[in-house]
Amino acid sequence: MGLWERYVAPPLVSAACSTKPIRKQREKVVPLAEGVVLEIGCGSGTNFPYYTPEKVTRLHALEPSPGMIARARKALNASPMAGKVDFMEAGAEAVPLDEASVDTVMITFVLCTIPDWEAALSEARRVLKPGGKVLFSEHGLAPDEGVAKWQRRIEPVWKPLAGGCHLTRNTAALLGAGGFEMDRVESMYLPSTPKFAGFVTWGSAKAA
Ligand SMILES: C[S@@+](CC[C@H](N)C(=O)[O-])C[C@H]1O[C@@H](n2cnc3c(N)ncnc32)[C@H](O)[C@@H]1O
Repeated sequence: MGLWERYVAPPLVSAACSTKPIRKQREKVVPLAEGVVLEIGCGSGTNFPYYTPEKVTRLHALEPSPGMIARARKALNASPMAGKVDFMEAGAEAVPLDEASVDTVMITFVLCTIPDWEAALSEARRVLKPGGKVLFSEHGLAPDEGVAKWQRRIEPVWKPLAGGCHLTRNTAALLGAGGFEMDRVESMYLPSTPKFAGFVTWGSAKAA
């Protein structure tokens, strides 16, 4: 890992993931988590304040970046979720949890970044209990060709600067290809956000 990825990208990515429109997206999905939760790529813990502590028995916060985990630990100190969270320093492609041990998998603004998204979704299916759900909110490929064209142009420059984030992944298509079917799915362009980074898709899904 280079100096940029280790020291510069984490605070930049954390700031980009804390804008008001993105916080509104978190409000739409995170409070719906229940039971034993696996959050993949928890980053700096921006979701922690949005969980409903009465509904969550355990939160496994998986994140491969030690720098992000250090930030997330600080965020947790002031959160009612403190005491319910354990951190796992790992990638989502190999989750150190038993199969069928999780009620909710939380995926927010991270499918864009995980190098092997297929392996990550396969692991999400493996650890989910029968009837368990994935809650997600992601940015990705815009439906308008004019925007998508710019996303494809910008992505090669953006990706190394933004911690490996892709602009052209199609959230719903990835979840479908990963073996999930939608219970609910919505999408829109975020307000006050450049369109190339602002097309978001959110909802819930179950293993097909
Ligand atoms: C844009 S941040 C989003 C963090 C958090 N999910 C949120 O909603 O704010 C993307 C995160 O994905 C993490 N990440 C990168 N590769 C990963 C992998 N293979 N598995 C899980 N997380 C990964 C990064 O370290 C970073 O914390």
